[in-house]
Amino acid sequence: MSDIDKAWDSVSKVAYGETKKEVNDSYTEWAKKYDEELDTLGYQTPENLVRELLKHSKNTETTTILDVGAGTGKCGKLLKNVGYKGIMDALEINGAMLEVARSKNIYRNHVEMGVFPDKEIPLEHGLYDGVVCAGSMLHGHMEAECVATLIQVLKPGGVAVWNTRDTEKEKEYREKVARSVEQLVKSGEIEKIDVKAMQHYKTNCRETGDKMMAIVYVYRKL
Ligand SMILES: C[S@@+](CC[C@H](N)C(=O)[O-])C[C@H]1O[C@@H](n2cnc3c(N)ncnc32)[C@H](O)[C@@H]1O
Repeated sequence: MSDIDKAWDSVSKVAYGETKKEVNDSYTEWAKKYDEELDTLGYQTPENLVRELLKHSKNTETTTILDVGAGTGKCGKLLKNVGYKGIMDALEINGAMLEVARSKNIYRNHVEMGVFPDKEIPLEHGLYDGVVCAGSMLHGHMEAECVATLIQVLKPGGVAVWNTRDTEKEKEYREKVARSVEQLVKSGEIEKIDVKAMQHYKTNCRETGDKMMAIVYVYRKL
């Protein structure tokens, strides 16, 4: 089996896992190979989100960013590489993934916990200037309603960036995200900065043979 096929197998296991436990067990198994396999596929979303976040957010030594569903710390590493000067915390449900992130010495705090719609993040409200959530808003991972939870930890004026995958299978999930966003906009909690399609992987999708796109959402807390 080629390296690309192996990487697609790992992606399919987590993206189409039947239960949250199955998804979590697959990440535990994948953690040590995650970076290498996603590099093989040319995983673009962390880079795209980090660029969007820094375009619209502050970047000083006291700026604070929370990486939600931080995984092995790809966003943190990229933020550092592009000249982010501030503080970063990682929040991640899977201990094995978080352990890889910890080994990179990027984040100030490593919070091992899951984000769920009915459970507040046990961090002070209004604490962060930025929130980045790459690759974690999908079926079997974070519920679509978790958008509100991401916003909760932002300071007024803070910026949240996240993505969904633009596949046919994930259409219903994207519609739920859109409804959650609409509610937050209507209630005057957030305003749209940008929503756009960007390439998710450089390698064409194994199932469709087409480019896989991500929908990238950039919103400011009011
Ligand atoms: C595709 S990985 C993305 C990791 C990293 N952000 C990146 O882009 O490389 C998805 C991550 O979300 C985590 N995750 C899944 N469900 C979660 C939840 N409810 N709360 C927090 N993290 C979750 C997984 O354990 C996994 O590390």
